[in-house]
Amino acid sequence: MGKVSTRHIRQLKGKRPVVCVTAYDSIIAGLASEAGIDLILVGDSMGTTHLGFDTTVPVTVPMMLQATASVVRAKPDALVVADIPFAIIRRSPDFVLETCARFMQEAGADAVKIEGGEDVAPTIALLTASGIPVLGHIGLLPQQVYQLGGYRKFGKTEAEKEQLIRDAQALEKAGAFAMVGEMIAPEAAAAVSAATGVPLIGIGCGVDCDGQVLVYTDLLGLTPGYVPAFAKQYANLRETVRNAFSTYAEEVRERKFPS
Ligand code: KIV
Ligand code: NA
Repeated sequence: MGKVSTRHIRQLKGKRPVVCVTAYDSIIAGLASEAGIDLILVGDSMGTTHLGFDTTVPVTVPMMLQATASVVRAKPDALVVADIPFAIIRRSPDFVLETCARFMQEAGADAVKIEGGEDVAPTIALLTASGIPVLGHIGLLPQQVYQLGGYRKFGKTEAEKEQLIRDAQALEKAGAFAMVGEMIAPEAAAAVSAATGVPLIGIGCGVDCDGQVLVYTDLLGLTPGYVPAFAKQYANLRETVRNAFSTYAEEVRERKFPS
């Protein structure tokens, strides 16, 4: 396939849906890339999946740098996008630029993802002008969970739909090569997609987006606890792994392994 570029992702709009999954380490990143996934998101969802936190808020820059470097070491053809964690985007432009540059220079990311719309567009413009490609993220912003008081759907009212369109257009103008839309009502997601020239990559936004992203542990049936209803499960690895461990335990106890 050859290395995927941000330009390639942007140009898929109107041609075919962009395929994205999360990964937080070399093993999964290698498998995802071998399977032809276009974009690997090193999401801060690592906090609620791998790290056992209740939200993504406790995830820090060092945690994300380490995960990103691990994904990059798989040398995936897929574009590697690192999620910028909690509250960083609200710091000074210098600090944001320095932090995002670390993801590319120290961890080897191809791009970064930042939660926010119109309000963060000026900072995103600084990043893109500095050579740091940015994937936007609009709709539900999980880093705002304490401010929101929980997770919900966005774009159900006309006012919210109009705001999402303004957010998407501001991000496009700031140079974002694509954007994630999370938990946007399908009709509003279709309107956002139609109003912008860059791909809207949906999660929980219905079918009328320019691509889809899923958290890999949801897709593989590995997530302990709550799995959102929109996440289709393509495997049941919890069962597979539990069975393998219990067979191993049994064989060791019965001296069947090693044989
Ligand atoms: O952290 C993450 O996995 C994400 C996706 C849900 C888009 O931000
Ligand atoms: Na995230």
